[in-house]
Amino acid sequence: MISEKSSTSWLQKLWSSLPRLVTGIVALLLVVILVLAWPLLTQSTPKYSNINEHFKYGSIGGASNMGIPYWIWRVMPVMFPEYLPVDAYQVPGDGVNQFGFMQEVDHDLPIGFAHDTYLGLDVVTNNCAFCHVGTVRESTAFPSEIIPAMPSNVVNLEAYFFFITRISGDPRFNAREMMPYIEQEAKAQGTKLNPLQSLLYRYIAIPQTRALLSVQASRLTFLDEQPLYGPGRVDTFTPYKSRAFNFIVEDLPKKETQGSASDFPSIWNQRPRQGMNLHWDGNNDSVAERNKSAALALVSPTNINLDSITLTANWLLDLPAPKYPYAINTELAAQGQPIFEQNCASCHAFGSEKVGKVTPLETIGTDTGRFDSYTPEFAANQYSLFAGIIYKGEDQRFTHFQKTKGYANHPLDGLWLRAPYLHNGSVPTLKDLLEKPENRPGKFYRGNDVFDQENFGFVSDLATDDGRSFFEYDTSEPGNGNGGHLFGIDLAPTDKTALIEYMKTL
Ligand code: HEC
Ligand code: HEC
Repeated sequence: MISEKSSTSWLQKLWSSLPRLVTGIVALLLVVILVLAWPLLTQSTPKYSNINEHFKYGSIGGASNMGIPYWIWRVMPVMFPEYLPVDAYQVPGDGVNQFGFMQEVDHDLPIGFAHDTYLGLDVVTNNCAFCHVGTVRESTAFPSEIIPAMPSNVVNLEAYFFFITRISGDPRFNAREMMPYIEQEAKAQGTKLNPLQSLLYRYIAIPQTRALLSVQASRLTFLDEQPLYGPGRVDTFTPYKSRAFNFIVEDLPKKETQGSASDFPSIWNQRPRQGMNLHWDGNNDSVAERNKSAALALVSPTNINLDSITLTANWLLDLPAPKYPYAINTELAAQGQPIFEQNCASCHAFGSEKVGKVTPLETIGTDTGRFDSYTPEFAANQYSLFAGIIYKGEDQRFTHFQKTKGYANHPLDGLWLRAPYLHNGSVPTLKDLLEKPENRPGKFYRGNDVFDQENFGFVSDLATDDGRSFFEYDTSEPGNGNGGHLFGIDLAPTDKTALIEYMKTL
C-alpha cells in the first residue's frame, strides 16, 4: 500500500514536471548545438584594410566551386608529397611553396591565396596575386623582394594545377585516411576541429572537394598534350574554353590549343591604359573587362566578389611601375633616348600614335600560338558571360572583346620587371630581343629572380642557383617561338647599349 502510494506520487511528480524537463533538455541540446555550430556560424571571410594586403590575401570570390577547405588544403602536400615537383622546377620551401609561391611571415597562406567561407567552413581560394606578384633581387646575396602587380615570374602555376588535380585521382583521398592527417595538422597549429566540423569534413568537405578536383582534372586533360608552361606563364583561354563553355579541347584544331601559353603581364598603372586595346593580342579595350575576365580563371560570374575586385582595380589605376633600382649611366641613357624615340616610341610610348593599338601579324612576325588560341567562336561565347548580372546599376555583360589581327603595342613602363619578353616570354633579355632571331637563345632557363643588369632581364643561363632549380624553356616547342619583332636589330652595338641604358628609366 505504502509503496504503491509513494510510487504513484513519484510518477505524478514526474508527469507534472515533464514539460519543464523537456524544455530543459531541448534548451540543453540547443546550447550544445549552438556551441558546436558557433565556429561555423561565426566563420567569416577576412577583410584587409591595407590595400596591398587586400591584393595579396583578400578573396575575390570563387569559394563555392573553386575553394578548397582549409584543412584539406593544408594536408595535401603532407599527405601526397609524391605529387610535389621533383626536379623540373623547385624552389626551397615547404609544401606548395616549392612551386614558387611566396610565403610571408605572419600569414598562414602564401601570397595569392585567400581565406574565404563556404557552408560555414574556412576555404582557400586564389586571387589576382596568384599570377600578378613577382620577386626580384640584385644577387643571391640578397633576399628576394616581393613586387605586387609584377608578373609572377617564379610561380609555376601549371605544376600546382597538376598537383591538385592528380591528387583527386589518388585512392587515399578519402575521409578515413585524410581525417587523421587533418587532426594532426590542426593539433600542430594548436587547435582542434569540433565534432560538428569533423562531421562536415568527413561527410561533405572531403568527398565534395575530391569530386570538384576530379571535374577540374577531367577538364584539364589537354595540359598533357601541350608543352609545359614553366614558371611565369599560363594558357589564358584554353582552360576557359573547357571549363566555362564545355568545349572539347581535343576536338579543336591543334594550332588553337597546342601553343597558347602566355607570359603573365604586369598590371600596374592601369589609368593611362584605359581605352587601349590590350591583352597580348589587344582583344579588349576596357580595363574593367580585362580585370573581370582575368578573375574568371578563379571564380564564376555567379560567385565573383565584385566589391573586392573593384577595390583592387581602383588601386591598380594609379599604382606606379617600380623604378629601376640599380646604377644607371645617365650619360649613356641620354644617348639612348633619341634612339628609342626614333625606333620604338611610336608603338610603345604613352601618348604616341600607335600605343595600345594592334600591329598585324605580318608586320610583327612573332609566334602565332597565343593569337590563334583566341577565336571568333570563343569571343561569341564570352559575350554571354556576366549577362544579367547587375552591379552598381550596370549590367556586367562583356561587350568589348573582339578578334584582332595581331599583337598589341604595349606601353613599356616597369619593363625591367617584365622579362622574359614577348607575349610567350620567349626572349630572356632585352639585349637578346635586339638581336636577330637566329642569334637569340634557343633554350634558356626561366624562374630565376636575380636581375642581370648587363643584359636587362633575369639571369637565364643557370639551371640551378641558390638551392633553386629552374625550368628549361625550349623555343622549338609549339607556341614558344622567339622569332619576329625585328625592330632595332640592325642598330650598331654601341647604340644598342645606349638604348638599353635608356630603357632602364622607363
Ligand atoms: C591564373 C592567372 C591569373 C589571374 C589569377 C589573374 N590574371 Fe590577370 N592576366 C593573366 C594573364 C595570363 C594575362 C594575359 C592575358 C592574355 O592576353 O593572354 C592577364 C592579363 C591581365 C590584364 C591585362 C594586362 C595587359 O596590359 O594586357 C589585367 C589588367 C589583369 N590581368 C588584371 C587582373 C586582375 C585585376 C586579376 C584579379 C581580379 C587578375 N588579373 C587575375 C593571368 C591572371
Ligand atoms: C610597329 C610597332 C612596334 C615597334 C616600332 C616596336 N615594337 Fe616592341 N612590340 C611591338 C609589339 C606588337 C609587341 C608584342 C609582340 C608579342 O608579344 O608577340 C612588342 C613587344 C615588345 C617588348 C616586350 C614587352 C613585354 O612586356 O614582354 C619589348 C621589350 C619591346 N617590344 C621593345 C621594343 C624596342 C626596344 C623597340 C625599338 C627598337 C620596339 N619594341 C619597337 C610593337 C613594336
